[in-house]
Amino acid sequence: MKAITTRQYGTPDVLTLEDIAQPNPKSKELLIKVSASAVTSGDARIRGLNVPFGFKFITRLLFGFNKPKQPVLGTVFSGVVAATGNEVTEFKEGDEVFGASNNFGSHAEYVVVPESGPIAIKPANCSFNEAAAIPFGALTSLKYLRDFGKIKAGEKILINGASGALGVYGVQLAKYFGAHVTGMCSTANVSLVKSLGADAVIDYTTTDFTKNGEAYDIIYDTVGKITFSQSKKSLTKNGRLLLAAAGLPQYFQVLSTSLFSKKKVIAGVAVFNKKDIAVIKELVSSGKLRSVIGKQFPLSETKEAHIYVDTGHKVASAVITM
Ligand SMILES: NC(=O)c1ccc[n+]([C@@H]2O[C@H](COP(=O)([O-])OP(=O)(O)OC[C@H]3O[C@@H](n4cnc5c(N)ncnc54)[C@H](OP(=O)(O)O)[C@@H]3O)[C@@H](O)[C@H]2O)c1
Repeated sequence: MKAITTRQYGTPDVLTLEDIAQPNPKSKELLIKVSASAVTSGDARIRGLNVPFGFKFITRLLFGFNKPKQPVLGTVFSGVVAATGNEVTEFKEGDEVFGASNNFGSHAEYVVVPESGPIAIKPANCSFNEAAAIPFGALTSLKYLRDFGKIKAGEKILINGASGALGVYGVQLAKYFGAHVTGMCSTANVSLVKSLGADAVIDYTTTDFTKNGEAYDIIYDTVGKITFSQSKKSLTKNGRLLLAAAGLPQYFQVLSTSLFSKKKVIAGVAVFNKKDIAVIKELVSSGKLRSVIGKQFPLSETKEAHIYVDTGHKVASAVITM
């Protein structure tokens, strides 16, 4: 099968289109014929070993010391079940599905995933490309807002990076949870963020949110640009600063604020699971969450997609089509 491989860490130049052996599903696994995937910020971080401060060593331990252990990146997919292991009960050949692979592998014509993983039947109101654009940002923001941030109806939230993959679903999910949402992005993305339902939009190129006199119950920074000291005055008494791109120093603040401060810094790794993809599927099916695609690339142009992601200014998802 055709796959994009990453046989060393580095710039997008390390990516190669290769013919490799098709994987075989074990007894509790599914073989998916991939229709679409996305190059996520997670894929780009692993390819370039470009991780938040303090996490390089642990990333090498987890993903391969000198080169990626799994040469085929790709965390998300949509596609059709091509074969099932003999103990699979929930899915059958021909099912149209979408989800995430906790072991990459989706930048290929076929990927194998466990039945128990974050996979669900694709919403009928979504194309394969639209479906592949959803899981990474939606599952992460669901985890951050619902579980880490414990968002409540009526709360005020500021979302930085509102036009990115985490942001576009963060804005929609925060609205779904009943919050008053302010999205923050650059000028070019203001209308997109408004169209997602944000109550207000701040253009960070012209306006400094720390000087607008507002206080937020939650500030969700998906970019890694907002510090605790900078945002303290913009947080309510029990406000939470959620950091999706935290480095080691920010994790020390998570610890210290959990002990000594009413205002909290919160960060963590969003581990994707089956229950949450089912939640996302329902929200998409009922029209409460819509897919956003920034750009689309054929598999053979995955390198160009990585270059786009590396700009740090992609809009929502960079979808890869097979
Ligand atoms: N903790 C976890 O479990 C977890 C899970 C998934 C992802 N992440 C991390 O979350 C981060 C965001 O991921 P993503 O996929 O959403 O990234 P993304 O799609 O690349 O979005 C980045 C956003 O940042 C905005 N941006 C760039 N420079 C900015 C600046 N100076 N000020 C304000 N906004 C700026 C861009 O908007 P404009 O173009 O409008 O500037 C863009 O929308 C990544 O670092 C990723 O590694 C963490």
